Amino acid sequence: MLTLGINYSQMHDSSACIVRDGELLFAVAEERISRVKHDSGFPKLAIQACLDFAEVTAGQLDEVCFGWQTAGPIYRHDLKLYATGHWPLTKVNVLNSSRYFLSMWHQESGAAPFRRIFGESKTRFRYVDHHLAHAISAYAYSGFDDAAVAVMDGRGAWEATSIWRGRAGRLEHLLTLNWPDSLGLFYAQFTGFLGFVPNSDEWKVMGLAPYGQQGIDLSPFINPHDQPYRVHSKTLVGDGSQFSHLTPLLGLPREPESEISEQHKNIAFAVQDACEAAMMSVIKMALAKTGSRNLCLAGGVALNSKANGKIVASGAIEKIFVQPAASDDGVALGAALAPYLDDNGRLPNKAMRHGYWGPSFDDDAIEKTLLTYKIRHTKLSDTATAAAQFLSEGKILGWFQGRMEFGPRALGSRSILADPRDPEMNAKVNNAVKFREWWRPFAPSFKKEAVPEYLESAYDSPFMILTAQVRPGKRSVIPSVTHVDGSARPQTVEREINPLYYRLIDEFGAITGVPVIMNTSFNLRGEAIVHTPTDALRTFFSSGMDALVIGSYVIEK
Ligand SMILES: [Fe+2]
Repeated sequence: MLTLGINYSQMHDSSACIVRDGELLFAVAEERISRVKHDSGFPKLAIQACLDFAEVTAGQLDEVCFGWQTAGPIYRHDLKLYATGHWPLTKVNVLNSSRYFLSMWHQESGAAPFRRIFGESKTRFRYVDHHLAHAISAYAYSGFDDAAVAVMDGRGAWEATSIWRGRAGRLEHLLTLNWPDSLGLFYAQFTGFLGFVPNSDEWKVMGLAPYGQQGIDLSPFINPHDQPYRVHSKTLVGDGSQFSHLTPLLGLPREPESEISEQHKNIAFAVQDACEAAMMSVIKMALAKTGSRNLCLAGGVALNSKANGKIVASGAIEKIFVQPAASDDGVALGAALAPYLDDNGRLPNKAMRHGYWGPSFDDDAIEKTLLTYKIRHTKLSDTATAAAQFLSEGKILGWFQGRMEFGPRALGSRSILADPRDPEMNAKVNNAVKFREWWRPFAPSFKKEAVPEYLESAYDSPFMILTAQVRPGKRSVIPSVTHVDGSARPQTVEREINPLYYRLIDEFGAITGVPVIMNTSFNLRGEAIVHTPTDALRTFFSSGMDALVIGSYVIEK
């Protein structure tokens, strides 16, 4: 069976993946190809890339599976909320709901543009409930036979949080909390209040939180410790006007790009603290309802690596799998497997051990690009050793190798790398390359075997989606990847999974005695991670990177 999974909601992170006989072949987010960050358009480029990779035409697909319900249920839920007073009944809100419904209805929730672009065929279209698609994306790539599955996001059609039992390839639905009782909504509202972009910049709030102190009371907006948590959406959203309801309790919202005050830091602290408590409440319920000690997470809220680290450190679970594309780009992965549940069938369940599901470019393609732009370059006999040498000399390095990552993190395919021992490196990379906020930490890639020496909890973290505490004695050894609260967001790199990247870290360790490197995504602030050699060159030459190792070639400034 050949299935295509799609995320298309017109909201954010459109994507596509292709699965053959239960085996994920390829996945890519539209933003990487279109270069529009969080692209919400119909993912025609991503779909074409999937078909090209599998060397098939659209007509050969057995099913095209969207990770969303059709527009009708979404609209019905919205109307119910207006009628019952659970969401502000304003002209703008009703207009937005109606416009969304009409647009998606007109597009047959994605089937119409698919047929228009890829041609008419007998291929069947399927619309998978959004949280089911998230739940499959977590469980069916975990490798756990038996698991508690929790999905937490902004919203599906009606869903905001759901709990499932995964067992023997089947998923049983146990509980749903309906929108707007939503942790994603809660976090997004405060992300906006703090002057950042909701449903995009939640990372910034999470990074700011450790600079704040306890003292802000968010109980009018959320009861995080209740089982299940309750978000008081009426006080959180008020009459729908921009933050007017938050101001009496928290002061004026922060202007974007303005100074960060102590109050802003304290709000970030309180929001993160409440989110962690609420997530823990959901997980305790999931564990109690299923009796399992294996946990699978998906949904945008599951990208909260700080909370995930605390879940691991709590000792409540034995094993965890957080689907690395936990946000909506990842529902394509779940949707593509939904047909396997038909007729009492079982999901394939192979543990996902890496995130390298995207396109790649070989040396021929890279050299052709370098020659086209007349860029002076050298061919390396040993890229890992040369790159390790650059890093040990304090150089900031672009690293473009192999298949691109699927999900928001760069994991050693499209990365900017630097020496984590230099306490100034954080500022250097920020000033030269990322141009991003001073409080946002950079993350380390560890040689897997080195993790127990550096981190207090040595849980496998191939996807940079869990934080852990750096051992106190090691914080001054890797200062530029240790956050203000002593935490780090590690990637553990295994030799068998990514031999080249592993060897680079190993060689850096041989030179410096520290088998750890700073790894941040290969993009400038506000841009999508680079996809093609041309994207990489453009980013390299419009930043302060010192060298670019691209395939077997190096370019130095
Ligand atoms: Fe979602």
